[in-house]
Amino acid sequence: MARQMSTVLLRPDMILGRTLYDAQGRVLLQRGMVIREQYIKKIRNMFASIYIEDELSAGIDLVETVPVEIRLAMQETLSRQWEHWGQHASFERLTLQPGFARGLREQMKTLLQIVSHTTVIREDLSTLASFDNGTYVHSMNVAIYAMMLGHALQLPESLLIDLGVGAMLHDIGKLWVPAEVINKQGPLTAPEMAVMQRHAEWGHHVLAKQTELSYLVAHCAYQHHERLNGSGYPRGLTGDEMHQFGKILAVVDVYDAMVMHRPYRAGFPPADVMEYLFSRAATEYDLDLVSLFSQKVAMYPLGSTVQLSDGTAALVVRIHENVPSRPVVLIVKGPDGEPVEPEEVDLCQQLNLTITRTHATVIMESID
Ligand SMILES: [Fe+2]
Repeated sequence: MARQMSTVLLRPDMILGRTLYDAQGRVLLQRGMVIREQYIKKIRNMFASIYIEDELSAGIDLVETVPVEIRLAMQETLSRQWEHWGQHASFERLTLQPGFARGLREQMKTLLQIVSHTTVIREDLSTLASFDNGTYVHSMNVAIYAMMLGHALQLPESLLIDLGVGAMLHDIGKLWVPAEVINKQGPLTAPEMAVMQRHAEWGHHVLAKQTELSYLVAHCAYQHHERLNGSGYPRGLTGDEMHQFGKILAVVDVYDAMVMHRPYRAGFPPADVMEYLFSRAATEYDLDLVSLFSQKVAMYPLGSTVQLSDGTAALVVRIHENVPSRPVVLIVKGPDGEPVEPEEVDLCQQLNLTITRTHATVIMESID
């Protein structure tokens, strides 16, 4: 029972709709707590978007795609290895921590179980990230999305596990990109961009030497920035020179990266990113993968705010399994911006209505 809200619009006495965790996985604020004035600044410094609980959200049943304890365990596995390698200035002669590969594979098996029972991802996974654990949440989200696609393509289990492990480690080469480049809040200069782009090769270089990992895992790091038309890096591969895993990761990595909020810019609405992917499908991204992805991820996540073609504002309350792009919504404001008696409308029935805008702050303001 919760709806998504930009933290810009937080006000004292609102009720938290989903528990907030810090980067170490400790509880910051428990679901159901009243948000006090003194918490608001801290929350805004860590999160762009959270969930609140109120009368309007009463019919919205948020379902976690991956249970929180599994998500935190995955984050812990990744962060321990990441920090261990991060202490080394050079990536030559690095080894995995004992048990890491086995542990990660076990977690990917669990994730595969979850993914194989998930027809559509109904929540906005980017909201699970705080500004300081974005790297880990991004890696996990990429693994979830990649395995959703791989499972829909009916890949065998052993390949799906490799794909998941590869997705979790695809950006590991960023460990050796200087912090001032990684953390720069603004456009990179050409030399900075060149260093940043090396992360794909560096990740491949380190992962390829780890005998406990499949060589496909290293190729996930190597190929996730390649594009079908040869405009990607590091090698400018084209078409079927790219491995299927590279094609999958290209789609889901860019999706999650664009949807995710950063301290210096809001994330793009999922529907806008999906449209961007379609606009470049067949040139940069595999068209079949983009269309499959659009059926597996709700463009209008549960609890998000949308504007309809008649000018009314509404909340997404339920998402159909087969037509995730036309959810059931609860109209809460009229075209004049005034609150109305909440009315539920199924966009699969009311075909004359379409969603015209999504949860950008400007729309949120029209409700809150
Ligand atoms: Fe990357």
